[in-house]
Amino acid sequence: MITTSTGETIITNDGATILKQMELKHPAAMMMVDLSHSQDVEAGDGTTSVVVIAGSLLRAASGLLDKGIHPMTIADAYRKASEQSLLILKDIAVPAQLSDRKALINLAVTSLNSKIVSANSSLLAPIAVDAVLKTIDVKSSNNVDLKNIKIVKKLGATVEETELIEGIVFEHAAEHKAGGPSSCKAAKIALIQYCLSSPKPNMEHSVVIDDYQQIDRALREERAYILKVIKPIIKSGCNVLLVQKSILRDAVSELAAHYLAKKNIMVVPEVEREDIEFIATTLGCIPIADSDYFDAKKMGYADLVEEVNTPVGKIVKVTGVKNPGRTVTILIRGSNWMMVDEAERSVHDALCVVRSLVKQKFMVPGGGAPETEVGLQLSRHADTVGGMAGFCMKAYARALEVIPYTLAENAGLSPVAVVTELRRRHAQGERTAGINLKKGKITDILEENVLQPLLVSSSCIKLATECVTTILKVDEIVAIR
Ligand SMILES: Nc1ncnc2c1ncn2[C@@H]1O[C@H](COP(=O)(O)OP(=O)(O)OP(=O)(O)O)[C@@H](O)[C@H]1O
Ligand SMILES: [Mg+2]
Repeated sequence: MITTSTGETIITNDGATILKQMELKHPAAMMMVDLSHSQDVEAGDGTTSVVVIAGSLLRAASGLLDKGIHPMTIADAYRKASEQSLLILKDIAVPAQLSDRKALINLAVTSLNSKIVSANSSLLAPIAVDAVLKTIDVKSSNNVDLKNIKIVKKLGATVEETELIEGIVFEHAAEHKAGGPSSCKAAKIALIQYCLSSPKPNMEHSVVIDDYQQIDRALREERAYILKVIKPIIKSGCNVLLVQKSILRDAVSELAAHYLAKKNIMVVPEVEREDIEFIATTLGCIPIADSDYFDAKKMGYADLVEEVNTPVGKIVKVTGVKNPGRTVTILIRGSNWMMVDEAERSVHDALCVVRSLVKQKFMVPGGGAPETEVGLQLSRHADTVGGMAGFCMKAYARALEVIPYTLAENAGLSPVAVVTELRRRHAQGERTAGINLKKGKITDILEENVLQPLLVSSSCIKLATECVTTILKVDEIVAIR
């Protein structure tokens, strides 16, 4: 639990989120925050591991420096060790198919295991997997655009109520200033980016109306204006109108709401500017920027648009879209905002894990197995290299064991005993032996289905090494005040 200087409280187990909150001054510490962030961008998961590995590599480097080895020699050996580690990782990785939904769910479950919402992983993991699979072409895709997966958060109920919606969710109610329908079947939906209200005078200007005739004329003008902008909407047969939010004036005036309600047109106001593209892709409609260009051809179609009650207000759901784009919405629920936010971060991690597999279709076992195996094989490789470089590589290999060490420690096991046992089993050829956190002992981690994408592990090693070698190349800190 982190409480910030602004009084905000965050409960999280996400490495990048924790580090982002740190108020740091030391440049090396700031590099660690950037490192975690880079891992978040590159792979989305493993943001804790990357910093733990970098820390361990730095500690090992410090030992080597104490022995009088030149920092450039260490940096060089580290870089070579990292390249070798990536080859070893690739060698132990197993190929995965995007059509294998169960394997993908296992990956998502592993990433959710360490989260506060781990109890809900049986619900959240399939949601994350299905969300990604619905937005890509399983046969040909090699990346996922997470912009096509919209996450909507709504307080109330529990995380258990989180759902995947093939359509759109608006986190607010429909417009009811003048009554108006709250649901619509066989919806013909238009998305407009202009206001249904009369233009306002400039800020500095004021209009003084001092007799009844003038009031009458102003009202007549307003009515004529509103009727002019509403006419094309009514003529097109549109029955659901999505209106972009406006900060300059009312997006929908009372008069406009009244006319639309009379024609039984449902109005959903307050559509955010940044959601326009997502909505247009999802509904297959074209946003309309001016009433003169309102055209029935620009509308989208859905079976149902309805207002749904939640304990903390209404939401609007659009489902059964006729020509859906490759987009989905995940509606996250939770009993308090801290839980909702953490659920969002965890779902994001799970989505990223699946995305990592789409990018690189290989997985490695978890539970410290890959780090132990890489450590072991790298150590053997270092023997063949020999000399100062070999010595540094060996230290690098040992440093990677920090992952199984930490996992064992966190599981309440004896880290030294577990790491030595792991090393022994891997030396005997058990490449998938890992720490089974549930059983509290070392088992074949593949049998437990604890899997993670290769990209997460390889990017951890790559980024951590780069960060450490950069630090090693610093000769001196010159503080200019
Ligand atoms: N059921 C499990 N058994 C053994 N190890 C597990 C299990 N689930 C996850 N792990 C291991 O836990 C580690 C991941 O832990 P965690 O998710 O807390 O950190 P991270 O992924 O590095 O960072 P973050 O999730 O904060 O971005 C991986 O090494 C993974 O193999
Ligand atoms: Mg993780």
